[in-house]
Amino acid sequence: MTSVTPSPTPDVLCADLVRVYQSRGVEVQALQGLNLRVDPGELVAIVGESGSGKSTLLGILSGLDTPTAGTVRVAGHDLLALTPKQRVGFRRHDVGFVWQQTGRNLLPYLTVQQNIDAVTSIARTGSPAERAARSDELIALLGLEALRDRRPELLSGGQQQRAAIAVALANRPRVLFADEPTGELDDAASIDVLEALRSVNEQNGVTTVIVTHDPSVSEHVRRTVQIRDGRTSTETVRSTRTDEHGAEQVHAEEFAVLDRVGRLQLPAEFTAALGLHDRVRLALEPDQIAVRPDETQEPRP
Ligand SMILES: Nc1ncnc2c1ncn2[C@@H]1O[C@H](COP(=O)(O)OP(=O)(O)O)[C@@H](O)[C@H]1O
Ligand SMILES: [Mg+2]
Repeated sequence: MTSVTPSPTPDVLCADLVRVYQSRGVEVQALQGLNLRVDPGELVAIVGESGSGKSTLLGILSGLDTPTAGTVRVAGHDLLALTPKQRVGFRRHDVGFVWQQTGRNLLPYLTVQQNIDAVTSIARTGSPAERAARSDELIALLGLEALRDRRPELLSGGQQQRAAIAVALANRPRVLFADEPTGELDDAASIDVLEALRSVNEQNGVTTVIVTHDPSVSEHVRRTVQIRDGRTSTETVRSTRTDEHGAEQVHAEEFAVLDRVGRLQLPAEFTAALGLHDRVRLALEPDQIAVRPDETQEPRP
């Protein structure tokens, strides 16, 4: 069965993104031709080991850093074409962020409510009455009613991150980015924060990109993109179906990512199983492409 899905204009579109850092004369290739597409209203996790380029990617998507090569569009803006003033406007109005370091998200001398109000007054979104209504709405959405007059130091790590999500949404961004939002939390608080992100995505429809080294995050989202060596390598799509006994079954299917010029990464366990290295034979068959060892080469385990 095939179904044709219409293609909306994506909220995040990266093509062949490269970021090379120069550090003491040594080049570090943090991103090596990364491709990514996130459609409006999607909730996507990007999962990869430490050092795989996740924070570099979010720095670029949020307009803090610029790539060495490639193109990047977020919320309808070509980030490489923005003037410095437009870039400030983009960061203020179009995107929201939640960072790993809980201390980076909230001003320590302001209460939860004041932290939210500080954002709406800087972004000048609506009249004072509309701003007050917005902050009430966010406080309810994130279950912060009992905590609204507390300063961050009197909140647990999980409560601080829920407050950080409210602050990140205060300017009504089109896209919300979260870099390791559960990195400093225990398991129970992590689940709480991930479920808060999921319910905000469902209820507000804000496009959400969560970056993390924690593979268990994929249990909370429909689509997970794996990043390896500065490239998107595989994607896992989860869906729920009801079986013949009426019980909900979660299916997770893994796909390899095929880029625009036809490159893909073969899983290491596949190439190892057949001793593939350096050179392989490809054959087009009626419904698949076969990858076979080159029989003139010695297999390598
Ligand atoms: N400012 C920088 N200067 C030099 N190298 C950097 C800088 N930032 C990150 N890197 C390197 O780029 C690679 C990717 O880093 P990063 O994006 O932070 O990965 P992740 O967030 O997945 O852990 C790593 O090898 C890291 O050491
Ligand atoms: Mg990081």
